[in-house]
This record gives sequence, structure tokens and C-alpha cells, in this order.
Amino acid sequence: MQALILAGGKGTRLRPLTVYTPKPVVPICNRPFLLYQIETLRAAGIKDITLSLSYQPLKIEQLLGDGSDFGVRLKYTTEPQPMGTAGAYKFAAEHISEPTVVFNGDVLTDLNLKRVLAEHKRNGAAATIVLTPVENPSAFGVVETDAGGRVLRFTEKPAPGEAPTNNINAGTYVLEPGVLDLIPEGESYSFEYQLFPDLLKRGEKFYAHVPEKTYWLDIGTPARYLQAHHDLLAGVVGHIRVEKRRGEFDAATAAEIDDRSVIADGCTIKPGAQVINSVLGEGVHVEEKARVENSVVWAHTRVNAGAHVSSAIVGRSCYVGRSAQIGAGAVLGDKTSLTDYTQTGGAL
Ligand code: GDD
Ligand code: MG
Repeated sequence: MQALILAGGKGTRLRPLTVYTPKPVVPICNRPFLLYQIETLRAAGIKDITLSLSYQPLKIEQLLGDGSDFGVRLKYTTEPQPMGTAGAYKFAAEHISEPTVVFNGDVLTDLNLKRVLAEHKRNGAAATIVLTPVENPSAFGVVETDAGGRVLRFTEKPAPGEAPTNNINAGTYVLEPGVLDLIPEGESYSFEYQLFPDLLKRGEKFYAHVPEKTYWLDIGTPARYLQAHHDLLAGVVGHIRVEKRRGEFDAATAAEIDDRSVIADGCTIKPGAQVINSVLGEGVHVEEKARVENSVVWAHTRVNAGAHVSSAIVGRSCYVGRSAQIGAGAVLGDKTSLTDYTQTGGAL
């Protein structure tokens, strides 16, 4: 058993955060996102993992290396240009000789993968797709099944209100290597729009796995990226916990930091400052009487005296001027510099 993580998308919906940081390694509670997926695979005994890259591949390779720091063996494939989801799997064919778990590289979940693998085997399936129920299925791939769990239809991103069920493609597949033969070589090809409909047309054994109560979130938009943090801080991401809540940092005795917040090494929190339900990356400065709440602040950013950052995401090495008011939904790209008294709007 081996794994392939699709991590080549441009992360356009997460811009500006993904201008300098590819989506697969955006920090989630100060850890590169892919480490959560790698841990899920490792927990199921899968250590041979190929990362399928296209956008800013070197940044990802430099961060994760050969995987030995994380107890796995990592290989990389880099498409000259994005080949689509199934095209990326085909492009990695030289590394694939066994049944393979394929992950979309932007889903945070506490899925029990061992159960998925056992069911795939029991069914003698050519392909198994994991499903999850969501409120708004039109942003995803919608999957209809029969009573025996066989996939009947796959509809990628149906028009709003037209989805026949709330069960969507959770972005985890188990594929037998024979599936590779159904994908043309050297061209862009999609699991969602091409391969899955094709499997159904051919009558292949294509099964769905509906896990028991499982946390699931696609982190690919700013709102969901922030949601992932709030869920981790609140401890509701199943068995996944915040790895390191407190690093070594300087905080004034007259500063207020709540129990949930995650604070990395090298931060400075000055008197009268408040950090509530938030994540601070390495070396963040929160000056006198500044307040950071319900927010994520990336490394080396400075929040100056009296500034308020609320329900916002602030990139690396930003400068938030004195008494600035950063409101709900604001997303600041790396190195943004905001003049004193700036107001971004949004409910504070
Ligand atoms: N290597 C590579 N090459 N990876 C790619 C490419 C490509 O050309 N295109 C997309 N990816 C990766 C992305 O980096 C991401 O990790 C994953 O494939 C899915 O792409 P998204 O762009 O995030 O797709 P989506 O969120 O709109 O929809 C997909 O995920 C949903 C679940 O989150 C679909 O698979 C839906 O059916 C599914 O419900
Ligand atoms: Mg996505």
C-alpha cells in the first residue's frame, strides 16, 4: 500500500496567502498543512508517499525533505504544467505499483483510513471514494450511491440547489493500479470530470465509503482556513490535537493570553495586550494594548500599540500600524504594511 498526495493546485482561492506559500504547506496551528495528512497515512501504516507537485515545488521539498523527520519516505513528482488531478496520478505512474491511497492535498480530517482500506478489500473494488456530508454540496463533487454502497453517479460542482444528495467527494480515494491504464498519458485529465464518470460507464467496481462521525474540512478558502484553526483550538477535530500550544516567548505579566491560543517561539507580548482564541507564528510582536482575537497571525508580523485584529488572517512579516482596526474577514498578504489608524472594515 502506498500513497499519492495531490498538492499541485495553485491555491487561487487562498490568495494572497498562497502567493509566497503554496497551499499544501500553509501553516495550520504553525505546522505545514501536509504534515496532518502525512500523519493520517502513517497512522494507517502507509509510509511510501509521493507528493504530486506543480506550483512552487521547491518550497515544499525544502520544507519536508525525504520525510525521515516525520517517519515516512517521501518522493516527489513535479509536472511541468498542471496535468489535472488524474493526470497528476498518471504522471506519477513510475512510482506506483500497488494499491494507492490518493489524497486531495487540502483536506483536514481525522478519517480512520484503516477502515477504508479494509472495506475496499472486502468489496474487491477497483476504486473506493470516501464521502462526507456537507451543507452546501454545490462547491464539491456530489456522489450518489446505491444501498450496497456502489457509486451510481458522480457530478462535479452541480449548480446551486441541484445536488441530489449532500454526500460529497471527501477527496480520499483508494485505487488499484489497473486504474492507471484508463488514464491517457501526457495530457491533462481529471478524476472528477473524466475518470470517475468513465469508471461508471465501464461498470467498474467503484465503491463509496461513508465513515462514521468524522471531522472533515477543505481548507482551501480563507473562511475555511480560519475555521480549521478555530476547530483545532476548540479541540473538535476528532483525535487530532494541537501539537505545540506554547513555545518559548516573552509575555508581560500584564498581558492577557487565553488558554486556547497557540503561541510560537520568539513571540513578544507587551503589557496590556490581549491574545484571545488566536494563533501567533514565530517571532510575532503584539505591542502595548493591542488585541488579537479569533485570528491567525503568521511569523514575524508586528501588531503595533492599540491595534485590534479580529477574525482575520495576517500573513508573514506584516506591519499593522498603531491603533489600526483589522476587521472580520480581512486577509493580509505577506509583508503588508498598514499605516497607523487603518481600518479594513468588517464587523469588529
Ligand atoms: N499535482 C496536481 N496537478 N495537483 C492538482 C492539480 C494538478 O493539475 N489540480 C488540482 N490539484 C490538487 C490541489 O492542490 C488540491 O490539493 C486537490 O488537487 C484538489 O484540487 P482543488 O482545486 O482544491 O479542488 P476542489 O476543492 O475545488 O474540489 C476537489 O475537492 C473536493 C473536496 O475538497 C474535488 O475533488 C471535489 O470533487 C471534492 O469534493
Ligand atoms: Mg479543495
